[in-house]
Amino acid sequence: MKLEIADLAKTYNGKDYVLKDFNYTFESGKFYAVMGPSGVGKSTLLHILGLLDEKTSGEIRLDGVPLALQGEEERADMRLMTFGFVFQEFFLNPKLTVLENVMVPMHIHPEYSGKANREKKRQRARELLRQFHIEEYEDRYPSELSGGEQQRVGIARALANNPEIILADEPTGNLDEKNEENIFETLKTLAESGKMVIVISHNDAVKDYADAVLMLKKA
Ligand SMILES: Nc1ncnc2c1ncn2[C@@H]1O[C@H](COP(=O)(O)OP(=O)(O)O)[C@@H](O)[C@H]1O
Ligand SMILES: [Mg+2]
Repeated sequence: MKLEIADLAKTYNGKDYVLKDFNYTFESGKFYAVMGPSGVGKSTLLHILGLLDEKTSGEIRLDGVPLALQGEEERADMRLMTFGFVFQEFFLNPKLTVLENVMVPMHIHPEYSGKANREKKRQRARELLRQFHIEEYEDRYPSELSGGEQQRVGIARALANNPEIILADEPTGNLDEKNEENIFETLKTLAESGKMVIVISHNDAVKDYADAVLMLKKA
């Protein structure tokens, strides 16, 4: 897949631009690191790409199709099917078990949605937990896991619907060095398996994993 960004601009207040004249093309199978000082617009960019925020102007095309063409319902589906978002704060649901958290995005998936498919959802979620070596925690609640383990649940959840594009906003910001390497390694493996992986990080270590580094500057 190709995610093309043309002349992207974003202002929150109508006068100060957070992003301006931003042009870039992201491709599947690559790990991109987005870096730059705090407040430069990294999260804003990622939120716009993941359809969590609106751009002010410019165009974003996914395999040639402008993202603006979809209606709200289709965008909501894309958020859960095409994009997988990983957050610094994990944002797991504290009232759901690890397994249930991973199943959350699947409620809109054509193959997994509905009560009848609950067992299918479970199997898929278990498979993802196994992939990240946290299957023994499936019945625990997020508060019973370490930060590194919670983030692996966050990544498993982001992959629930097998999205083509993984967006991660400082995924290791709340983790120690060992877990940090583990998460970068995991994301790198996803890129090698053909996903498009875009990771915001303050940490220079991300450069060891990235195929390309985008250094954002003040607009
Ligand atoms: N929802 C918002 N409303 C108004 N201003 C915002 C909002 N989100 C971010 N900003 C501002 O936009 C700028 C860029 O923020 P952000 O994208 O979070 O930067 P970064 O992730 O690089 O630290 C900052 O000045 C921030 O205060
Ligand atoms: Mg940020």
